[in-house]
Amino acid sequence: MAQNSFYVTTPIYYVNAAPHLGHAYTTIAADVMARHHRQKGDDVFFLTGTDEHGEPVALAAEAAGVTPRELADKNAERFKALAPVLNATNDFFIRTSDPEHVRAVQEVLTKVKDNGYVELGVYEGWYCPRCADFKSEQEIIEGNKCPIHLIELDWEQEENYFFKLSKLQGRLEELYENHPDFVAPQSRRNEALSFIKSGLNDVSLTRGKLSWGVPVPWDEKHVFYVWFDALLNYYTALTYARPGEDLRGEFWPASYHLIAKDILKFHCVFWPALLMAADLPLPRRVFVHGYLLLEGHKMSKSLGNVLDPFEVIDKYGSDALRFYLLRDVSFGQDGSVSTADFEKRYDSELANDFGNLASRTIKMLIRYRDGAVPQVELDPAMHAEFEELNTKVSSLIGRAELTPALEEIWVRIRRLNAYVGDNEPWKLAKDPERAADLDRVLATLIEGVRVVTVLLHPWIPDRAGRLLHALGAPEDLHDTDPSLTIAGAQYGARVPRQVADIEPLFPKQQQPA
Ligand code: MSP
Repeated sequence: MAQNSFYVTTPIYYVNAAPHLGHAYTTIAADVMARHHRQKGDDVFFLTGTDEHGEPVALAAEAAGVTPRELADKNAERFKALAPVLNATNDFFIRTSDPEHVRAVQEVLTKVKDNGYVELGVYEGWYCPRCADFKSEQEIIEGNKCPIHLIELDWEQEENYFFKLSKLQGRLEELYENHPDFVAPQSRRNEALSFIKSGLNDVSLTRGKLSWGVPVPWDEKHVFYVWFDALLNYYTALTYARPGEDLRGEFWPASYHLIAKDILKFHCVFWPALLMAADLPLPRRVFVHGYLLLEGHKMSKSLGNVLDPFEVIDKYGSDALRFYLLRDVSFGQDGSVSTADFEKRYDSELANDFGNLASRTIKMLIRYRDGAVPQVELDPAMHAEFEELNTKVSSLIGRAELTPALEEIWVRIRRLNAYVGDNEPWKLAKDPERAADLDRVLATLIEGVRVVTVLLHPWIPDRAGRLLHALGAPEDLHDTDPSLTIAGAQYGARVPRQVADIEPLFPKQQQPA
């Protein structure tokens, strides 16, 4: 992988139901990282998509009286439509029913077999058809139920080909020892490592009872167990995302897989093991975020407590949602979301702290200086406040610490607001002898507004773009525009010359929802 390549992925979502806010959450987080890395000048590939095979989809299709393919086609379109509504800039959308994916899965898993990691055996144990997961005794709750879906588990007995995971235990332990940042946050790393250390059993690689899946080339009575087919999407997409190009050279191994903790075992244990068995390089990092909770429970279709992201965005716009989810819920931990909290954050931070600061500063420049920014020395105290802010934010985003990164920016926004209060430019404007002070205060403020806006761009690309346009950047900014570079987000580096008036960025909501 070239030095400045950045490849980020979301899980591929099951098409057994329509997307909800939980899915939107991971896609937004990945988009923030992708956009930031483009601003840094990295060559970025951002992948999302849908997981279409296996029991979760086959069962939902049966219940709806349609074929799995019909259900997959219908819901994949909904997930595909969600990305642009979120203003997510994925470079490709993979569907595991793509024939190119199917062929590549067959190839890699045949290699795993040729390398001696596949064996015929009999599986006997608990199975959750919703998770498509074979559960050990430690992973089930009272009444033999699934701790995630709270449904009764099936006792399965069937002849399967097994993936010899147990043979890789030592190598997995070494991976965790040698790369302490392979999984973050630390608590999730410990969870994965202790799962590995508790002893790994071989796992089913194929299913004989299902027909909705990728056929096993050496035994067509079987299809691959959906998780192995699904995990491989991160790798197979690079072989066909851009027709005629093989992107593996540039983008494999992936820089970051973002997932929630529900699928930790698959990504932090099975996935690296599978790649080892196929002689492929391992991803650099997996970041495991928490759950969005609604009324205290994980938001999930099967529990029926979901928010529809299309509706939320209709009402508030995508920027506000992107901001709220990564600001209010600490990325990496569980957190409750509610309309009331959303509106509180919207009003106090987006409308007041940030939107007002920008409007006031622009309006004062227009009123007192005809919109021309005085090209004078900026206040050294503000320089000090912003010292290395761009590199700090960048290194936080580089570790997927998206909530602390936002807080770093917000500290400066609060500082700029305090600066307005401390200096009272409207008073300076009344005193012709203090014209030079007014020049300095206005220039100091607008440069601060520019810097925080460039850094906020990944979270609120639409409004940040509009604001930067009012400060002289081109319209319809792309992440790679020179006015958006992280290097240029150094305080004092690109003081705007002229500003134009602008509509309120985040108008206060007229009616509480
Ligand atoms: N298809 C598998 C993933 C295969 S990846 C090779 C799957 N799909 S899923 O539709 O159930 O999506 C799970 C993922 O959606 C979570 O890991 C997380 O990224 C996101 N979320 C779904 N509900 C969520 C919350 N309530 N909160 C946070 N994230 C949520 O598992």
